[in-house]
Amino acid sequence: MEVLIVDSKKWRIHNDKGSKRVIVTKELPGDRWLKFLTEADCRIEICTSTEVLSSEEIKAAFGDRCNAAIGQVTESWGDELFAALKKAGGIAYSNYAVGFDNVDVAAATKHGIPVGNTPGVLTETTAQMAVALTFAAARRMGEAERFLRDGKYRVWLPTMFLGNLLWRKTLGVIGAGRIGSAYARMMVEGHKMNLIYCNLHPNTDLENYISRYNEFLAAQGQPPVSCRQAGTIEELLREADCVSIHTILNESTHHLIDAQRLALMKNHAILVNTSRGPVVDEAALVAHCQKNPDFKAALDVFEDEPEMKPGLVDLENVVIVPHIASATSWARQGMATLAAANVAAMLRGYPAWQRPNIGPFLEGEAPKAAPSILNADALGIPIFEDSVDSGPGENK
Ligand code: DGY
Repeated sequence: MEVLIVDSKKWRIHNDKGSKRVIVTKELPGDRWLKFLTEADCRIEICTSTEVLSSEEIKAAFGDRCNAAIGQVTESWGDELFAALKKAGGIAYSNYAVGFDNVDVAAATKHGIPVGNTPGVLTETTAQMAVALTFAAARRMGEAERFLRDGKYRVWLPTMFLGNLLWRKTLGVIGAGRIGSAYARMMVEGHKMNLIYCNLHPNTDLENYISRYNEFLAAQGQPPVSCRQAGTIEELLREADCVSIHTILNESTHHLIDAQRLALMKNHAILVNTSRGPVVDEAALVAHCQKNPDFKAALDVFEDEPEMKPGLVDLENVVIVPHIASATSWARQGMATLAAANVAAMLRGYPAWQRPNIGPFLEGEAPKAAPSILNADALGIPIFEDSVDSGPGENK
């Protein structure tokens, strides 16, 4: 195996005969992604370090010639990197993530570089983690496990680790997109919760789904659940017994949940965040959880990852995990496939797929298209049409 050392970091080479150079800033799981790039005649250079690469190190890796790059949410892809990629002859970038708050898409567009992301493949996985965190907090799993491991379990007691029963309670979902809706369905179906959601637009698919679910409940002789869009976020926070955040991070959602809004929540409520850390004012959350021991929080993401605000790790009423909501083998391999397919398609001059169903990229012969290009419109990249002879389409 050929290995390069650039600025003390090792880069592993795959398909050294490829004529196009693609930089990948972290090892990615699976091997289907390598097939996409190899078939597009790429030489793939993968950084084997687990440290976050600085912009200087990434620019050094571009060197004088780099055709495309796949980067991580832990890196800041802005004007400096896109200018350097352009100068090195780069024509494509894909984030290894569905979220892209680490990418200045406008800067990439200015340099004519398409930016890909990986939607659709981590929906159920991330929703599953939000569910796991919800119940870990509700049933005090972290606290109880620490108690047990510390050798403190001496006797079963009727009053030990009493938690929250969410059955038939009210669920608040902030951001009812793909992941928020999947989480809502898991909680509503599994625990017959009434749903109140905040979203820019009404989610009629979700509302229709729940009305059909109510027909099923009626057929079982069970009472219905309710589902409605909240007028305001304040209304949702006041009513919900459990609130889960699934919004994107941008200027309008930074510190969306602050001290004032936390104060509106029920004192036994649960707050779950699997979106992005800065959506919650973490210092305010620490203070709120310190003052309200019956309140619970469960966090996959933090404001200054991997750091946490002082006091957070000491709180028994908070469950914390290290940004692993999308961490199933299936999702992470799928993300690699989509990121590579984005880059390979742009290098081959293919159109953009831009459809919710990304299944056709995950097995068999993939469509001749890039699964998801965020600035396709701005760059005038054509959209895939079934009528063009471009490989299998959505329903084939
Ligand atoms: C994403 O995809 O945005 C996650 O946060 C990283 O998996």
